[in-house]
Amino acid sequence: MAKGSDLRILLDDAARRAIDYRETASERHVAPSPDAVDDVEKFVEPLPEAGTDDREVLAMLDRLGSPATVAMTGPRYFGFVIGGSLPVTVATNWLSTAWDQNVGMHEVTPATSTLERVAMDWMIELFGLPANSAASFVTGATVANFTALAAARHRVFADIGWNVEADGLIGAPPVTIIVSEETHPTVFKSLGLLGFGRNRVVRAAVDSQGSIDAKRFPAIDGPTIICTQAGNVNTGAFDPVGDICDLAKPKGAWVHVDGAFGLWAAASPDRAHLCSGFATADSWATDAHKWLNVPYDSGVAFVRDAASLQSAMAIKADYLMTETAYRNPSDFTPELSRRARGVDVWAALKSLGRQGVAEMIDRCCSNARRFADGLSAAGYEVLNKVVLNQVLVSFGDDATNRRIIDHIQKDGTCWCGVTVWQQKTAMRISVCNWSTTEEDVDRSLDAILAIAARERQ
Ligand SMILES: Cc1ncc(COP(=O)(O)O)c(C=O)c1O
Repeated sequence: MAKGSDLRILLDDAARRAIDYRETASERHVAPSPDAVDDVEKFVEPLPEAGTDDREVLAMLDRLGSPATVAMTGPRYFGFVIGGSLPVTVATNWLSTAWDQNVGMHEVTPATSTLERVAMDWMIELFGLPANSAASFVTGATVANFTALAAARHRVFADIGWNVEADGLIGAPPVTIIVSEETHPTVFKSLGLLGFGRNRVVRAAVDSQGSIDAKRFPAIDGPTIICTQAGNVNTGAFDPVGDICDLAKPKGAWVHVDGAFGLWAAASPDRAHLCSGFATADSWATDAHKWLNVPYDSGVAFVRDAASLQSAMAIKADYLMTETAYRNPSDFTPELSRRARGVDVWAALKSLGRQGVAEMIDRCCSNARRFADGLSAAGYEVLNKVVLNQVLVSFGDDATNRRIIDHIQKDGTCWCGVTVWQQKTAMRISVCNWSTTEEDVDRSLDAILAIAARERQ
């Protein structure tokens, strides 16, 4: 095991390899070669009886692992909704990993838990959320949705005199959950994990872009949790959260916003109108590993009523420092032990500043527009209103779309995914990476259009 000068050699070696990887990420094929993918099988071996030299472990990881990665961090990866980790966040992530802090309790991790508090306050300001909201630094929007909905579950049951944390859901009074036809599957998963059930929901109707139609919203009656969305994963469309809050608030219903990527629109003066009225909701989920471009894994839940979140999450034990005057991070998260996620968020916000975040969001949106214009000009059908960073395009019938997307992925100039939107197969383009330039878009468009023209013949 590396100690003293060996430690320096090992970590320098890791840094050199990582720098080489990042410096070449923008020029390599986005998808790995079939040979590289085959080679990862060489990792599969019996558990070694004896150890291996640390530098050889690292060299093996680089030799077999690096070529088999998809260049998600590069500027022409447009699959799913994927950020590219800003260089400063990779650097601060390395340092904080070296610190190896367990950010459960403030008193034993004062640096990292303070940085989380700062990151929390900055995001609350950036998104225009209520000043005393609490935040929970979790793995991603899935767990952020789960965490926020756990706080919602606490509040709606407490309001009807039921202690759900103590007594569970067996025999509990009914609670209505309203979702939409376009609610992200991770919200259904969260509802299942929370004991509400994935299917025991009322569905609100949506319009052609996948936004809830507030005029056709179901009647709200009794204890209710409403799940809305900022940024449809296919179209980028926003639910009219302000209008829904107007319906929900007089009835005492809890309104949650899944803003995995869309909440970041609030950070851009040009796009903040998409989030108008959002601050009247009760909880919000977002990802930092998507549009803030920090390393995985990093999601955040915000809850207006900090006490509800704390009631859902806090535990006590004699050996833990749970009685403290400070904000104890684990009072707000499902985990007790975890990594210092807030450091990466702090670093991104400190490096970019308010203006830099807005510029990054706007750049991605205008590059999405550039994609849509280029595809339309070539005669292909853009299926969505491009309000944000998502573009849906169809090249023809379902089989043609699938064939073209397959060829685009294999070509390696860029990477775009497949989806089905309103019964039609389509290609999704999601522009979420800080480093994507207009040249990257044009280069990708050239490749996409050449493949589409060839495959449609
Ligand atoms: C709207 C929405 N909610 C939730 C998620 C899940 O996010 P994560 O994979 O970070 O858990 C996504 C992922 O794209 C999303 O777009």
